[in-house]
Amino acid sequence: MTGKAWGGRFQEATDARVERFTESISFDARLADVDITGSQAHARMLAKVGLISDDERDQIISELDNIRGEIERGEMKHETSLEDIHMHIESRLTERLGDTGRKLHTGRSRNDQVSTDLKLYTRAAIDRIDELLLDVQKAFVERADRDREIVMPAYTHLQRAMPVLAAHYWLAYTEKFERDRQRLADCRRRVNVSPLGAAALAGTSLPIDRQETAQLLGFEDVARNSLDVSSDRDYMVEFVLDLSLIAAHLSSWAEEWIIWFSCEFGFIQLPDAFTTGSSIMPQKKNPDVLELIRGKTARVMADVSQLLVLIKGLPMAYNRDLQEDKLALFDAFDTVEACLEVAPALIAGAELQVDRINEKIDDGFLDATALMEYLIKRGVPMRTGHGTVGKLVAECEGRNCQLKDLSLEDLQSACDLIDESVYDVLGTRNAVAALQSFGSGGKAPVEEQVAYWQERIG
Ligand code: ARG
Repeated sequence: MTGKAWGGRFQEATDARVERFTESISFDARLADVDITGSQAHARMLAKVGLISDDERDQIISELDNIRGEIERGEMKHETSLEDIHMHIESRLTERLGDTGRKLHTGRSRNDQVSTDLKLYTRAAIDRIDELLLDVQKAFVERADRDREIVMPAYTHLQRAMPVLAAHYWLAYTEKFERDRQRLADCRRRVNVSPLGAAALAGTSLPIDRQETAQLLGFEDVARNSLDVSSDRDYMVEFVLDLSLIAAHLSSWAEEWIIWFSCEFGFIQLPDAFTTGSSIMPQKKNPDVLELIRGKTARVMADVSQLLVLIKGLPMAYNRDLQEDKLALFDAFDTVEACLEVAPALIAGAELQVDRINEKIDDGFLDATALMEYLIKRGVPMRTGHGTVGKLVAECEGRNCQLKDLSLEDLQSACDLIDESVYDVLGTRNAVAALQSFGSGGKAPVEEQVAYWQERIG
């Protein structure tokens, strides 16, 4: 009567408004490929356990291949009455194969089917993001190799703190993205557990073989509790959370470069091809790409809360609310993918404005900590050395000069353990050269890290 796959017990056709309200084909069509892959594995398993014949299996598999081709060529028309991509594919199959097509859904529900599709999709999405993160890391490592001699101020509170080599900045980002990749790899282990065969929520009385489908689909394990897996979207929340952290890292990089690109800083020049102008102010060159990376991060973060709120009030097991999960998943993935696609060229194409950086490199007492450590090496207790250098800094501020401009007498009157050799640590360049601890921004430790990363991903 209703023409629906589930229509047997209904006497009335579904209201057209309800069809429009409940459809998901407008946003789940992109699951077609994984849906067909999942169905083909399911059909192989059904034949293996004798629920369909080998001939039926072969017909189903080859017709699903045809349908995949049609979809790829854009030949499948979407019909709201068919609700989602899963029903579109099954109804096309049944149209062609009759009763053989009607057997595909044996021992399966759309609940475990949708979960399986989403896990296959998420697994591929993780691999795609990982590959793009590697490109971003490579771009930073190449820059580190290029910029290993350039000395930069490093900041805390956006106030000049200590000097580091530019390469140290680039490898700092490489590290953040490395942790992002580790998180994705960890998330992937939980994604890669098969829901298929949980059926609606309680499993099935049919002799299906869940290990078989799991293996065919490359899943490493089979979910042990059908109720749990029917309602599980944890892996998706995790993935989108990982994406939001990637976006946060991209956003703070973007923010830093937006600041550096300002006239006030002038540390970096962005390529024309990655900037835009103003329709009224002829002189403008704006860092819109970086701003949009920062702006799009807000969307990804909103997607995490959308998913968390979506699952927080759901009783066991499947609830239709879960249909809405795809919107957040796809949006977060598309957004981060787009940001990561545009980042490497920008990282490689930007130029540090070395002259401009050098002009002010001795401002801001970047060598004050080096002077204090010079005193410590001569036996001065740290807190005493801190106070002594603090007073010298105040004196320089009064005289509008730098620490290295002070005479030996001035320095010795602050602390009589100081001798001529102090001038080897004063000045920003000397201060950065003195940095030697593991993981610090000085020459030898940075060289060591550049070599480490080149060996790993170069
Ligand atoms: N269109 C739905 C989705 O994508 C299919 C779920 C069907 N399950 C159900 N019990 N109605 O989530």
